[in-house]
Amino acid sequence: MASPTTINKFATTIFTLVILSTTISDSKPLVHRSSSAPFKPNTLILSVTKDNATSLHVTILRKRTPQIAVPLVVDLNGRFLWVNCDDNYLSSTYTAPFCHSAQCSRAGVHYCHKCRSSPTPRPGCHNNTCGVIATNPLTHKNSVSELGLDVVSVRAFNGGRGVRRWATDPQFLFACAPSSLLQGPLPQGVRGIAGLGHTPVSLPLQLASHFGFRPEFAMCLSPLSTDKGAIFIGNIPSEVAPKTMAYTPLTIGPQGEYFILIRSININNQTVPFNTTLLSKTRGFGGTMISTTIPYTIMEHSVYNTFSQFFAKQLSGVPQVQAVPPFGLCFDSRILPPTRVGAPNIDFVMQNRNVSWRIFGYDALVSARPNVSCLAFVDGGTNTRAGITIGAYQLENNFVHFDLFGSRFGFIPSRLAQPFDCSMFNNFTTGADQLELQEFASIRN
Ligand SMILES: *[C@@H]1O[C@H](CO)[C@@H](O)[C@H](O)[C@H]1NC(C)=O
Ligand SMILES: *[C@@H]1O[C@H](CO)[C@@H](O)[C@H](O)[C@H]1NC(C)=O
Ligand SMILES: *[C@@H]1O[C@H](CO)[C@@H](O)[C@H](O)[C@H]1NC(C)=O
Ligand SMILES: *[C@@H]1O[C@H](CO)[C@@H](O)[C@H](O)[C@H]1NC(C)=O
Ligand SMILES: *[C@@H]1O[C@H](CO)[C@@H](O)[C@H](O)[C@H]1NC(C)=O
Ligand SMILES: *[C@@H]1O[C@H](CO)[C@@H](O)[C@H](O)[C@H]1NC(C)=O
Ligand SMILES: *[C@@H]1O[C@H](CO)[C@@H](O)[C@H](O)[C@H]1NC(C)=O
Repeated sequence: MASPTTINKFATTIFTLVILSTTISDSKPLVHRSSSAPFKPNTLILSVTKDNATSLHVTILRKRTPQIAVPLVVDLNGRFLWVNCDDNYLSSTYTAPFCHSAQCSRAGVHYCHKCRSSPTPRPGCHNNTCGVIATNPLTHKNSVSELGLDVVSVRAFNGGRGVRRWATDPQFLFACAPSSLLQGPLPQGVRGIAGLGHTPVSLPLQLASHFGFRPEFAMCLSPLSTDKGAIFIGNIPSEVAPKTMAYTPLTIGPQGEYFILIRSININNQTVPFNTTLLSKTRGFGGTMISTTIPYTIMEHSVYNTFSQFFAKQLSGVPQVQAVPPFGLCFDSRILPPTRVGAPNIDFVMQNRNVSWRIFGYDALVSARPNVSCLAFVDGGTNTRAGITIGAYQLENNFVHFDLFGSRFGFIPSRLAQPFDCSMFNNFTTGADQLELQEFASIRN
């Protein structure tokens, strides 16, 4: 297997190959000219598209040699990037670090992996490499996967001006998973999961470390598959950041998950009377997790009951109808005021009233069936991972900032009471990105 010298040689080879492949494939519109001078971007931008069928958010990275577009599901709490390697992983720059190497240690793996599934080595199957446990966030299935290294390119943010450039990390660490892990209700064509969690080898932290910028990223997910959202990794440019942001401490779970502390919840500017005894017993919503892979916010059973009853009281003029699973509280939407202002706003209050995050009324409800609108929160039962897990539906059209340097989470405070529109970033993500999307479409076909 790879020794330190072969890894060094590989680094040189990779570099040459990157240049070669970009030169050779200049005629292809997808590949962008890169100069050989070292390129140090301050911010990287990933375009994110919502998948209609699954409501999951998909981003595209350029990977391997020759480079191809690799669509991946965005998993905020994922520990690293993993892709299906069984399915024709062709790349001249793939290597697998040998076990107990510095790379394995960086990924926190101390397990030596042997592969018997193939008599000849191939990406994902070498002996004496390191085995990481990759997890599918939808099925919660795990699989031992080979830790691999390959070229990854991400677009550098240029503010919509000038030449679009790709920033390349020639030795990006990821897990090379078996195809069996890529099952479940995933968007068609995706090849794996892009983990943004707090680990040294997650997508944002690994790129930040490679390019030498502070560990931080911002995210704006679009609710529509026709508009694009974006993830900004590194310095958040002023032309992108909202003028005012509120910050609350960000805490990290044992698997690198992101948590914030919600102290109370207001509906229609009135405090929901949670039973504090019950809250402390059930750990309440003390730790509120944020997730991009669950569609709707999940609440622990007792939290959900109090919350949904109080919400129903605020909409007492609207007839309730039989609930449509997974929701527990539904209304006859013909009686709901037809405009966006109909439903009451919900505020998650953090350290004080000024630091509160608003779920606008129309994001509190979801149209579940013709003529039926439901409270877009789900009863998670008594054995939930957190008191509250904020899901993608409530994250969409919000600008959120994960400042891992300052260990704080930023959002637009309620008092500004302005819905945010992620499609304003379409200008930064169009162009080259259109080609990626076409390529994504062709993978799906
Ligand atoms: C997704 O659904 C919307 C509305 O139903 C439609 O306008 C859009 O074209 C669909 N997008 C794709 C990629 O199928
Ligand atoms: C790994 O070693 C085992 C024997 O220990 C052998 O059967 C297998 O073919 C080897 N796998 C690869 C990919 O070389
Ligand atoms: C919300 O309630 C607080 C305190 O109860 C009050 O100071 C504030 O004016 C209210 N805001 C609105 C918009 O009603
Ligand atoms: C709060 O919950 C505890 C534990 O379930 C219960 O004993 C108590 O009666 C509840 N208090 C109120 C005011 O509902
Ligand atoms: C909340 O904001 C108002 C207006 O900006 C300010 O006067 C007040 O001191 C703030 N309260 C806290 C607790 O920060
Ligand atoms: C929805 O309401 C409209 C108007 O009352 C009615 O015509 C229609 O049949 C309803 N649709 C369903 C699926 O119930
Ligand atoms: C986005 O691009 C369109 C057309 O190129 C332009 O009219 C618009 O002003 C741009 N918006 C922003 C926010 O730059």
